[in-house]
Amino acid sequence: MDGSLTQPIKIGAAAPRVDGRLKVTGEARYASDTPLADPVFAFLATSAIARGRITAIDDGKARKVAGVVDVLTHQNIGDAVKKTKLFSDGGYLGSTIMPLGSDQVWHGGQIVAVVLAETFEAAREAAHRLKVTYAEETPAAGFDSPGATEIAAKDVSSSYEDPAVGDAETAFASAPVAIDQHYSTATMHHNPIELFTTSCAWADGHLTVWEGSQNVTGFKYGLAEQLGIDPEKVHIVSPYIGGAFGSRGSLTQRTALIAVAARRLNRPVKLVATRDQGFTIASYRAETRHHFRLGADRDGKLVALIHEGEEVTSRPDNYKVAGTDASTRLYACPNIASKVSMVHADRNTPGFMRSPPETPYLFPLESAIDELAVALDMDPVELRRRNDTDHEPIKNLPYTSRSLMQCFDAAAQSFGWQNRQSKPGSMRDGDWLIGWGCASTMYPAQLGPAAARVTMTPQGLVKVQTAAHEIGNGAYTVIALTASDRLGVAPDRITVEIGDSDLPPAPVAGGSNTTASVCNVVAKACEQIRARVAQAAVNAGGGFAGKDPAMLVLADGRLRGADGNGEPIENAIRRVSNGAIEEYAENIPHGVTPDGLAKLYQGHAVLAGGAKMKDRIQFAFGAEFVEVRVHARTREVRVPRVVGAFAAGRIVDQTTAKSQLMGGLIWGVSSALHEATEIDRRAARYTNTDLAEYLIPVNADIDRVEVIFVPEDDRQVNPLGIKGLGELGNVGTNAAIANAVYHATGIRVRELPIRLEKLLDAPSIVL
Ligand code: MOS
Repeated sequence: MDGSLTQPIKIGAAAPRVDGRLKVTGEARYASDTPLADPVFAFLATSAIARGRITAIDDGKARKVAGVVDVLTHQNIGDAVKKTKLFSDGGYLGSTIMPLGSDQVWHGGQIVAVVLAETFEAAREAAHRLKVTYAEETPAAGFDSPGATEIAAKDVSSSYEDPAVGDAETAFASAPVAIDQHYSTATMHHNPIELFTTSCAWADGHLTVWEGSQNVTGFKYGLAEQLGIDPEKVHIVSPYIGGAFGSRGSLTQRTALIAVAARRLNRPVKLVATRDQGFTIASYRAETRHHFRLGADRDGKLVALIHEGEEVTSRPDNYKVAGTDASTRLYACPNIASKVSMVHADRNTPGFMRSPPETPYLFPLESAIDELAVALDMDPVELRRRNDTDHEPIKNLPYTSRSLMQCFDAAAQSFGWQNRQSKPGSMRDGDWLIGWGCASTMYPAQLGPAAARVTMTPQGLVKVQTAAHEIGNGAYTVIALTASDRLGVAPDRITVEIGDSDLPPAPVAGGSNTTASVCNVVAKACEQIRARVAQAAVNAGGGFAGKDPAMLVLADGRLRGADGNGEPIENAIRRVSNGAIEEYAENIPHGVTPDGLAKLYQGHAVLAGGAKMKDRIQFAFGAEFVEVRVHARTREVRVPRVVGAFAAGRIVDQTTAKSQLMGGLIWGVSSALHEATEIDRRAARYTNTDLAEYLIPVNADIDRVEVIFVPEDDRQVNPLGIKGLGELGNVGTNAAIANAVYHATGIRVRELPIRLEKLLDAPSIVL
């Protein structure tokens, strides 16, 4: 790290996190840390069945618990919460299931009552004393459950098309080499360390909500709609967030329920839902399965690619991820067909989870590519090189930039790939079978409209305000760095205010767009300040007389031309204003229609990028290499080495970017080997709803993780050339590990996660 925040920093440095000290000292305040005056505590009671009706709720014993204030159920809440729309239908909700909206139960763990008491303990005890009686119906748990229904994605969304080109079935049927396999990915839950908490307080008809949010502007408008009040009376506060990964991108129903409780009681109410409740009151990544076919000629050129994917969703909501947008565009291929279907089951509505479409849909593609390399007896890197392209194959649109093979070259070299012996089971260290595998990763480079206000005082103090979100991504740091670079002021003189719905709006922190969307608009506001100061300096005559104001820069605390020292920034600012200079900027990126700005102000996600534009396509790419060691006797899988090389345009802060990519790679190890929410298929209920049984890697599971940045200068994506990388890291890792496990053992595991029981039957393992 460059270490210091006391000197101006340039974009591209390895700067420390500006909020690091606050986080490690505990000074950073998370939603439920906020002290409330005379609060009431809420505890949720949740459904014991997955499908049916509530026939009675007996709250007699619950209300007798000392300190209980109220018990909200569908019987007494009335229509306090209005029915509103799913985010993908133009609303803000992650699920349209209204827990206290009626007696109907849509899924296991649905909220059936909100118990309110003077203490958390009293609320919890009372919740356990509620007697809820149900008329239960047989639930459908997911794929292949009786009663589950399937519908094609194109039949539920008028804007959705399954990517296709050429005649894939015919080409596949006559392909000299063919792979025809089925793959599946597991149900997963985000489990951010910060639990799903909400605190609400009303004052004079105005509501303040403290809740970790990836979309404070959207939450403001969405909650106002649910409560039937003016959005200007809703204030969402979310300066620090203890992990999100998509789970805080859309409103859950809990927020409105807590707001209603606080209004009824005329006291602040705090909810801290339990870890297990987080599995059913928020979103998650539903299981997917895929029929994947690849046809190639003998020298490895793809002639056919057919990707059929199925995803589970809830009964009422058509949440889809449809990662065929990416899986059909990674390689050159003249004949492509794809189809995405949704299976409706008695489950809570799934939602965004880190790289929602790409992670489940690239696993089959990148596994099948490896299987094709085996069938062709070709190096899998070479196979990818032969199918590299600078135009996506569906509409033949050009990539703004694509450095996939540069990533492979950089990662392969660092990894030592040239020393790989291709035969499975041929690399061994005593009882450990060594496997080396690799996979491509890709993620859309997306941008949304954004607004920012930058203020600079004559003392050279800077304030940047924009309603972006710090979900651990380093938002505070990259914003401070951008202002530092553009205004020539040290980060310790810059205050960044984000995570508050009163600020100029920024997009949802989803789709890895934050750095690109926000840094560009902050840079624009800084440029407006520079231009004003520069013009005033030229107008004033003196040392700047006759100079072109466009050539004057703010650097190292001074305003100067190319040829001289110039003058201290303070003097330059005083020429414009005795008080602070304030500039407000708005940005509408390429590919966003002009109404995008109005949508931004109402908190709607309007991201352009990826495969969504008419004239071009923009993605970040990477290559991920892993070494696995599979124990010949126990079949335990270890991952001693992961190397990822990534090309994601301009890197604003190397430290936070590296940390994001490492986090993604580690999550990939997790989903490849450990993570899965287990479902009791008879009851349609999750069974491992805690961090003891929901397996994630611990430090001992992760050894060396190397991140390499492949330089990429792409000024087409946006003026600063930022592509975004928060979700890029974990996309390819599942397949890289599955491919490495195959290389170690000769066993191809096509169902994630790869637990040791799937490796017991290993013909190639010779003890
Ligand atoms: Mo990310 S799953 O798009 O919040």
